[in-house]
Amino acid sequence: MHLTSLELANFRSYRELDVSLQTGLTIAHGSNGAGKSNLLEAAYLLAIGKSYRASVERELVTWDAAAAGGYAIIGGHVTRADGEVELRVGLDCAGATNAVAKRIRVNGVAKRAADMVGALGAVLFTAEDIDLVFGSPQGRRRYLDIMLAQFGGGYVHSLQRYQRVLTQRNALLRAIREGRASDNELAYWDDSLCTEGAAVLGARYDAMERLAPLVAEAFDRLEAIDSLAVTYSATVPFQERPTAETFAGALARAHGAERGAGMTLVGPHRDDLKITMNGIEMAKHASRGQARLAALGLRVAEARLMEERREDPPVVLLDDVLSELDGRRRTLVLEEAARNHQTIVTTADMGQVPASFLEDAHRLRVEGGTVEYETA
Ligand SMILES: Nc1ncnc2c1ncn2[C@@H]1O[C@H](COP(=O)(O)OP(=O)(O)O)[C@@H](O)[C@H]1O
Ligand SMILES: [Mg+2]
Repeated sequence: MHLTSLELANFRSYRELDVSLQTGLTIAHGSNGAGKSNLLEAAYLLAIGKSYRASVERELVTWDAAAAGGYAIIGGHVTRADGEVELRVGLDCAGATNAVAKRIRVNGVAKRAADMVGALGAVLFTAEDIDLVFGSPQGRRRYLDIMLAQFGGGYVHSLQRYQRVLTQRNALLRAIREGRASDNELAYWDDSLCTEGAAVLGARYDAMERLAPLVAEAFDRLEAIDSLAVTYSATVPFQERPTAETFAGALARAHGAERGAGMTLVGPHRDDLKITMNGIEMAKHASRGQARLAALGLRVAEARLMEERREDPPVVLLDDVLSELDGRRRTLVLEEAARNHQTIVTTADMGQVPASFLEDAHRLRVEGGTVEYETA
């Protein structure tokens, strides 16, 4: 699939932008602070329904527009194997509070954010991906969740329901610890937690079965001399496939500890991905170069799995990752990306793009809130 256009109003450094996008490789170049990452952030927002880097959505609205109670629009047209889709996200700062009201339309019809996720399938590579190796388990769960959300099948809804039940159950565990509630009130929440949790775990488990070999293959294709493995590290131990029953068993065993802690200690919200190189855990022992390559392998595998699951290749976005790689790896990554219909790469330095890719690439010059196509 590909994005045929991106339309922005009052989005970060873009006052107004309407740019058509091509299939194949597009290189968006411009100096630091020119707005390259903002552009990819907007495209990726259309895929995952939110910003991957803003902590509050108000940050996304051009400062003076936000201060004046205005609104931002992030819109795009997507061409998929199964037809055309028009996406539009509005962020309205008119309210009295600092919160923005988010309004989403898919083909002109109002939707909730969770229902837009995956209308566009995209994979984003960034320089911060090294945190997948060195960062917290939360970042690795996010890697899985964002991927799975774009596969559809109700994953976002299961995850949201799980999180709601988890919040309630944690509040109850605190109340029990403080003597404000009794143990037998837990049963109701335990049932829902196990049902929703098993749905989340089941989807993660199915994805991992295919992702694990794809990660190993991706590492080979990146010509890494080491072997990379990724496994799901579960707090609810399961033999075959996770079920509500296995979850209930783990909850029962954790009961004493949870009462003491005043929170839920087992479940998908506590799980992790274990990444090993030649059998050695990378989080503790990898060099930065090894970790960078491993992160690249995880993203390449993500793109492959998305292509398989959706039977339509995702849009691949590479934000400033070439500068971190040697010449050979730049070529390999771009070759891998070129499997897909559309790849958009940002760089501050055209010289980082291997010459063999320059000839057929579209060049987009990014500067002070505008973008412009260039002829080579
Ligand atoms: N809400 C906002 N309103 C106006 N400008 C913004 C907003 N958020 C970020 N910017 C501007 O966007 C620029 C950063 O753009 P970015 O896309 O990250 O640059 P780069 O080209 O280096 O990737 C900064 O100059 C910043 O001032
Ligand atoms: Mg940037």
